[in-house]
Amino acid sequence: MIPVLEARSLVKTYGRVVGLDGVSLQLMPGEVLAIIGDNGAGKSTLIKCLTGAETPDEGEILLEGKPVSFKRPQDARHAGIETVYQNLAVSPALDVASNLYLGREERRAGVLGSVFRVLDTKGMRVRAREELTRLGITTLQDVTVPVENLSGGQRQAVAVARAAAFGSKVVVLDEPTAALGVRESKQVIELVKSLRDRGIPVILISHNMPQVFEVADRIHIQRLGKCAATITPKSHSMTDAVAIMTGAAAA
Ligand SMILES: Nc1ncnc2c1ncn2[C@@H]1O[C@H](COP(=O)(O)OP(=O)(O)O)[C@@H](O)[C@H]1O
Ligand SMILES: [Mg+2]
Repeated sequence: MIPVLEARSLVKTYGRVVGLDGVSLQLMPGEVLAIIGDNGAGKSTLIKCLTGAETPDEGEILLEGKPVSFKRPQDARHAGIETVYQNLAVSPALDVASNLYLGREERRAGVLGSVFRVLDTKGMRVRAREELTRLGITTLQDVTVPVENLSGGQRQAVAVARAAAFGSKVVVLDEPTAALGVRESKQVIELVKSLRDRGIPVILISHNMPQVFEVADRIHIQRLGKCAATITPKSHSMTDAVAIMTGAAAA
């Protein structure tokens, strides 16, 4: 089986700091791949390199077996990879619906849209509401509210909803539940499961071990810029995973 997304021996340095020291990763069709690791282990750098937010110094990235080199996140997005970065990429002044459609705004039908570029605001709001309902996100009642008026958790929900709605090949979530309450975290995990059920593989970075062990098919453990091991919830316990993560045990 060809991986949907693959990294081969990625290296990324920031001056003298080594962010990634030869990391490989394979995301298989339909799976949830969790990435865990201590702070500074290179988790965010790894997904930034995979999704065009950073350019690796060395190594290869393949999408469905073909080499790709994304120069910016939009390139990856156009290729079907939707990412929610750790430092949230929502536009605070825009409302929920506009955030959902950011960068892929829909125009009105006919000359209004094609010549005068008039946005189909009403249509986007209706579809944004439908999309949120379909995704089971119930904490956002009003899609016309500017995102700056939402709680951290609700903003996170908007970003995750956008990724889930538009990710056609891969969805990547970097600590999506870090700012969320218990109920909202559950919703995000349900969303991850529903993406998997729709056949869309997910890369999930999380510190929440019970969550990771509940939802992941495989777990990539990052340690000091390297992949220390790739395990599964069946092969290893949470205690084993933490031991590998901290260097107390080998895989
Ligand atoms: N833009 C940057 N400039 C300098 N150092 C960075 C930058 N981004 C990440 N790093 C460093 O790279 C290492 C890996 O960071 P990161 O990938 O964010 O870790 P994680 O997401 O696992 O906490 C850390 O030592 C971090 O300080
Ligand atoms: Mg990080």
